[in-house]
Amino acid sequence: MATNLIMGIFHVMICMLFSSPLIIAKDITIETPPKSTLQTYIVHVKLPRGRVSADSDELERWYISFLPGDKGPRTRLVRTFRHVATGFAAKLTSEEVKEMEKKEGFITARLQKKLSLHTTHSPSFLGLHQNLGLWKGSNYGEGVIIGLIDSGISPGHSSFDDRDVPPPPKKWKGQCEFSAGCNNKLIGARNFASDTWGPPVDDYGHGTHTASTAAGNFVPGGNVFGMANGTAVGMAPRAHLAMYKVCSDEGCYEADILAAMDAAIEDGVHVMSLSLGGGSIDFFDDVIAIGAFAAIQKGIFVSCSAGNSGPFDGSLSNEAPWILTVGASTIDRRIVATAVLGNKDEYTGESVYQPSDFPYEDMPLIDAAGGNVTTGLCEPGSLDNIDVKGKIVLCQSGGWTDPIDKGQTVKDAGGAAMILMNKERDAYTTIADPHVLPATEVSYDAGVKIRAYISSTSTPRAAIMFRGTVIGFPSALTVASFSSRGPSSASPGILKPDIVGPGVNILAAWPESVDNYPNENAIFNIISGTSMSCPHLSGVAALLKSAHPDWSPAAIKSAIMTTASQLDSAGGPIEDERHLPADIFALGAGHVNPSSANDPGLVYDLQPEDYIPYLCGLGYTDDEIETIVHQSVSCSNITSIPEAQLNYPSFSVQLGASTKTYTRTVTNVGEANSTYSVEIIRAKGVDLGVEPCTLSFSKVNQKMTYEISFRKSSTSVNGTFVQGAIVWRSAKRAVRSPISVKLVR
Ligand SMILES: *[C@@H]1O[C@H](CO)[C@@H](O)[C@H](O)[C@H]1NC(C)=O
Ligand SMILES: *[C@@H]1O[C@H](CO)[C@@H](O)[C@H](O)[C@H]1NC(C)=O
Ligand SMILES: *[C@@H]1O[C@H](CO)[C@@H](O)[C@H](O)[C@H]1NC(C)=O
Ligand SMILES: *[C@@H]1O[C@H](CO)[C@@H](O)[C@H](O)[C@H]1NC(C)=O
Ligand SMILES: *[C@@H]1O[C@H](CO)[C@@H](O)[C@H](O)[C@H]1NC(C)=O
Repeated sequence: MATNLIMGIFHVMICMLFSSPLIIAKDITIETPPKSTLQTYIVHVKLPRGRVSADSDELERWYISFLPGDKGPRTRLVRTFRHVATGFAAKLTSEEVKEMEKKEGFITARLQKKLSLHTTHSPSFLGLHQNLGLWKGSNYGEGVIIGLIDSGISPGHSSFDDRDVPPPPKKWKGQCEFSAGCNNKLIGARNFASDTWGPPVDDYGHGTHTASTAAGNFVPGGNVFGMANGTAVGMAPRAHLAMYKVCSDEGCYEADILAAMDAAIEDGVHVMSLSLGGGSIDFFDDVIAIGAFAAIQKGIFVSCSAGNSGPFDGSLSNEAPWILTVGASTIDRRIVATAVLGNKDEYTGESVYQPSDFPYEDMPLIDAAGGNVTTGLCEPGSLDNIDVKGKIVLCQSGGWTDPIDKGQTVKDAGGAAMILMNKERDAYTTIADPHVLPATEVSYDAGVKIRAYISSTSTPRAAIMFRGTVIGFPSALTVASFSSRGPSSASPGILKPDIVGPGVNILAAWPESVDNYPNENAIFNIISGTSMSCPHLSGVAALLKSAHPDWSPAAIKSAIMTTASQLDSAGGPIEDERHLPADIFALGAGHVNPSSANDPGLVYDLQPEDYIPYLCGLGYTDDEIETIVHQSVSCSNITSIPEAQLNYPSFSVQLGASTKTYTRTVTNVGEANSTYSVEIIRAKGVDLGVEPCTLSFSKVNQKMTYEISFRKSSTSVNGTFVQGAIVWRSAKRAVRSPISVKLVR
């Protein structure tokens, strides 16, 4: 498996939206370079005076007019943008930027940063079955194009075979940079990663994995080390894929991301999927938010990973309300390896590598820590002075070494096997990794008990029982510990994340074998992250787009959110990594339920213009808003709205002494004649009123508005968050909006 750590160059929050939650997020500050160094800046400007649009040549001339004249300004230009921004990326010195600031039409310039990258069974787990329901109703996503902004793709993989996939829609304008060409499944592939060369091959695996999760074709017998064996298939098996490579193993440059999003919009994708990010930032400074706004202006749905910085509050990336922000949950499949102790206690863990020749018999068990927490991490060299030969070694997660390298350390020291215990914060979220030796990764709780057993006896012993792939764990649906949590920092009045979907131990296509699998076109790997949950939702959005071509991006998002589930298959509340009910900042609206999303009854719709009063309400300046919406905006001329007044399918309200009242408008997308009544699920300490409490529709696409009021009750405790929901119920449907209230003085 490729190394997971990606370093940033500038002062960047390294937010791992990819794979292991075990890598510590870290601020990396590099000394400021000498003033005259050329560096890449992203520059936003206004349109040429008096223009509401401009052609590419005219735009380029306009952009060049901002650049220094001496040595040929054109050579300084790195990227020009058209859809995603009125602006460009250019190599400049800080003095030159100061000069540029004086020019008429200039808005902002800032140094570009580097962002980081954040299935066999998951379709059926999500209720998608061949010749039934949503797969049938959407024709498996036929006619829809999903554009992935990622690390490239392995074009020859069987997941990207175009069997049963028709040619792309006529409007498709994309290009294919692979010399062997593309096909009807993979219809476009371009390389925008400015630090790599040649066609957009995936040296990493991330882009191949996410693309096949969104829309991989059916591949029988997909497995890793024989585990999770089954027909590997993406969420929208007949949708088309277009890969825009922006990431190398060094990270993903912002100017490349913007250029790729610009191209995807121009080419005609319907859904954009971004499993990468850089933490919470103001939307006018957030290239993904800026590119995504241009996308929704063209009716393109944008799905993004929430980040892998959980379980801490306020740890989200990609918070803009015009983006679907996707957290990660577990599925009901485990790759089970059980640690059986000498005292007969058993602890269930997971590992993808389960060698059949490893004997199931008692062996000496040793705690690598032996009281020294540093040694317990099993970092390279740390076992040199400990006799672990022929023993099972208990190691702790964390530090700077990933789980597979910890296994390598144990193996190098002569250890027979490894039990890897979670960090406390990861609690019961266990990851199945392709280890280099017999191993099992167990919960923190199990680790504490195993440790206690070791110190309770002079001859600790254990065995590892490999039990292979087990499907149907009843309370298996939990929010993963690493999944980033709300509340949103950039816009606290919008509830985020929006939704959770499968993101733990996901099997999908991979460029190179991790298990010496003989068929090089059918290689898979099992990895975890919100990077994995995001393309599940991109695929679901493609199915909905195919089934409902007239739905706006906001309508698709509303359908996904209001039909999400808050219960697991055993009927209990979805839990978090601690096995406590997951709160609203972990779960958002809930766990995606694709079949229900196909028939939501009512949707909370929004047009791109509706975000302008909201952005004014956030207190952004006119110029800052212009960099997002690329049209001139004057907030003093607009009635701005508070964040919570945006017609969003959920609520995030800050409540002090005064009553807060907001309105929402719902659109009937069910039967013409339908009546909905409101059900209020109270938030503790809040009186909630809805007016009217019945909505009777007589036409399809009819809109009705209701008012919702929030008032503190006598039991309210200041300084706390409370949660509730409102549900509009008809005979057939429930349209649910989660509510978060922050009680303040
Ligand atoms: C995977 O499943 C297929 C079909 O059930 C079977 O033919 C194949 O042998 C299995 N492969 C492994 C490695 O278990
Ligand atoms: C723990 O182990 C580390 C690494 O071997 C060593 O540097 C350190 O001194 C040890 N600490 C204690 C308290 O023994
Ligand atoms: C505000 O709107 C009025 C009337 O539409 C217009 O004349 C004026 O120029 C606008 N002001 C700004 C700052 O855009
Ligand atoms: C809580 O806030 C309300 C105003 O919203 C205030 O009247 C009340 O005194 C506060 N309670 C405490 C215990 O601070
Ligand atoms: C809706 O109900 C009205 C009045 O009951 C009826 O006249 C109309 O035909 C119904 N429309 C549909 C599409 O069923």
